[in-house]
Amino acid sequence: MTDTVFEGALGGLTPENLDPLIDLEAEIDRLRTQKNAVILAHFYQHPDIQDIADFVGDSLDLSRKAAETDADIIAFCGVKFMAEGAKILSPNKTVVLPDADAGCSLESSCRPDEFKAFRDAHPDHTAITYINCSAEVKALSDIIVTSSNAEAIIRQVPENQPILFAPDKHLGAFLARQSEREMTLWPGTCIVHEQFNERELIKLSMRHPNAKIAAHPECPDSILRQADHVGSTSSILKYVTTENAQEYIVATEQHIIHQMQLAAPDRTFLAAPGADGSCDCASCPFMALNSLEKLYLALANEAPYVEIPEELRVAALAPLQRMLDMSPASPQARNAA
Ligand code: 13P
Ligand code: SF4
Repeated sequence: MTDTVFEGALGGLTPENLDPLIDLEAEIDRLRTQKNAVILAHFYQHPDIQDIADFVGDSLDLSRKAAETDADIIAFCGVKFMAEGAKILSPNKTVVLPDADAGCSLESSCRPDEFKAFRDAHPDHTAITYINCSAEVKALSDIIVTSSNAEAIIRQVPENQPILFAPDKHLGAFLARQSEREMTLWPGTCIVHEQFNERELIKLSMRHPNAKIAAHPECPDSILRQADHVGSTSSILKYVTTENAQEYIVATEQHIIHQMQLAAPDRTFLAAPGADGSCDCASCPFMALNSLEKLYLALANEAPYVEIPEELRVAALAPLQRMLDMSPASPQARNAA
């Protein structure tokens, strides 16, 4: 796999030589202004990072922000495939990722050589690929999707056109059901959503009979069939803050609950349980690698930074741009119209 995230020159500030008394929020703010940087954060980031970000959103909205920003530096508080996406869309910006090891189980389940063999075995299929994949897999795909635009995009593909979907088999199966299309699926899963447990969810739901269940489509069908609402992170956030119920069980990475509490402080949000009945399983270990300290260092050192060979970037841009062109307008664009 091509390396795309680099640690940068040695000799800069490191966690070891960082002054422990530093006011991290104030320093991040100072560097953001001084360097004309924008801080983008996914809903799965720690609340400290969400609170200091210029924009918190789902994968699609963060891609749009990265494509549109006039900042010189994009500090992407998320995982590697997201920071790569920002660099593909905004090649002239410096894109930094606070922790170079922030990967994703879906991305690592889908090696480019194996994905190419999958494509080669189905030459007449259109390859629709979830954005949670490497730049190389993007470059081998026809159209990229996120969980918030996938169904709308699939509905634009002619009905008689066979589809390959990678790398998330649960999202793929959900989309096949929703769009009533047959799709050939890559067998990848998200290690976070895979761990929710149907039996424990039913038990929690019995103890909170008025609670509505909202789930991300990366969950297995055993969880989705219990849900009152299935959608992307932004769709779940909208549902739990606008639906007419007081209590919600949230079957996705639990740090999104921070945004839910900010938007609806009078409502109760419970993290969906794993097999042992606890909710600790709903934390993404890759997202958790980022911290305020590492965000500060990333802005100070302008590293770890993303660099993508131009040929690969251009090849990955085509299906990503196709996604942006085929996506329904963002809520902001709809409001402005
Ligand atoms: P969305 O924010 O697009 O729903 O994606 C969820 C996710 O798993 C990102 O890693
Ligand atoms: Fe990947 Fe799952 Fe973590 Fe999202 S939550 S970054 S899909 S491992």
